[in-house]
Amino acid sequence: MRTQVGIIGAGPAGLLLSHVLHLRGISSVVLERRSRDHVERRVRAGVLEQGTVDTLIEAGVGDRMLREGLPHHGIELRYGGAGHRIAFDELVPGRSITVYGQQEVVKDLIEARLAAGGDIRFDVENVALHSLESQPYVTFGDGERLDCDVIAGCDGFHGVSRPSVPEGVLRTFEREYPFAWLGVLAEVTPSAEELIYARNERGFALHSMRSPTVSRFYLQVPPDVDADDWPDERIWDELRARLETVPGFTLATGPIIEKGVTPMRSFVVEPMQYGRLYLAGDAAHIVPPTGAKGLNLAVADVRVLTEALDAYFRDGSTALLDGYSAACLRRVWRAQHFSWWMTTLLHTFDEDDDYGRRLQLSHLDYVTSSEAAATTLAENYVGLPFDLTG
Ligand code: FAD
Ligand code: DHB
Repeated sequence: MRTQVGIIGAGPAGLLLSHVLHLRGISSVVLERRSRDHVERRVRAGVLEQGTVDTLIEAGVGDRMLREGLPHHGIELRYGGAGHRIAFDELVPGRSITVYGQQEVVKDLIEARLAAGGDIRFDVENVALHSLESQPYVTFGDGERLDCDVIAGCDGFHGVSRPSVPEGVLRTFEREYPFAWLGVLAEVTPSAEELIYARNERGFALHSMRSPTVSRFYLQVPPDVDADDWPDERIWDELRARLETVPGFTLATGPIIEKGVTPMRSFVVEPMQYGRLYLAGDAAHIVPPTGAKGLNLAVADVRVLTEALDAYFRDGSTALLDGYSAACLRRVWRAQHFSWWMTTLLHTFDEDDDYGRRLQLSHLDYVTSSEAAATTLAENYVGLPFDLTG
């Protein structure tokens, strides 16, 4: 079997890439380890930057997002017994975020791809990458082979693409955090209209949502916890303790329909390419979810890769492909910094002494009282324009 671009992984990066390449007349085959049902049910991100929303609309896959997604024009930072609104509509006029589940984006992309006759193989085992320096090919299943001009490694942090690069080529930058997030989906009307990022002595909590009847929550927990150690009542007690800290706020509760633990990590490899392999999304970089940047960065990488592949297949020009990593990394590092910053601003760290806690509160006070500092948060949160960061 032969195609122009072999894509490993049917997450947001791989699916979007396959779709936009198709719009430019470039063929691809997507190889995904899990089932279609699994990838469509995997509950993860929820916040789409303005640029991600625009990209999905331009690509013709934004109709359901526009109907069902929830546009938000601000978030609340809650700490010290009060809530403070970061007003995107005032600080970065015309730019906002849309709350729309990652698995809904994935469903929309799979549907569009299959409707256009796209080739997505689910449940594919034993994917291996070969001959990355010259004529790349992928083997999978029981000895099947996919020959391609280039390979896009869109298989996430635990995928096979990044480890296929020979030892010593990639440089890794990494930071682990001494906590994880317990994520919870509940059938209950959100208790607030906007997202609440709560800093609390008991640990961080986030109140988000998916629809007018479904809420999404995250709790800072120790890194090694098992979701089964958190029965529903314990989750609600802890969410109440961390969120019911301002006068008049009561948390509505309901049946919990999904829960899972996410480790918190910052990670980047440089360069994001080797030979004819190009890494995109979580395969190349991970951020802690506090800044809601991971999915959005994956989309930004795909934009850069699409232009580079288009130039290559149109007139054989390799300039943009050669510069792919450098073009992506500027935005990647901005998001790395923002995600680290939001994480340290809002979580409790065991090693923090009273001095550290006072610094954190002072920083929060500055962010919520200075227009300059609030604008820094707002413009990073809604996403910097693509031309400013790669
Ligand atoms: P993935 O979604 O990981 O997709 C990779 C795909 O490759 C998967 O389908 C996997 O099954 C497949 N694969 C792996 N190995 C192989 C193999 N060997 N062979 C074939 N296929 C393989 N980001 C945001 O922007 N906003 C948020 O609000 C946000 N919140 C988050 C909350 C949580 C709880 C979590 C866990 C993440 C969050 N993120 C958020 C991050 C976001 O979900 C990821 O950055 C995003 O999924 C990256 O997309 P991707 O396509 O690069 O990788
Ligand atoms: C959601 C996830 C995030 O990481 C975040 O910062 C905000 C919202 C969510 O899943 O809704």
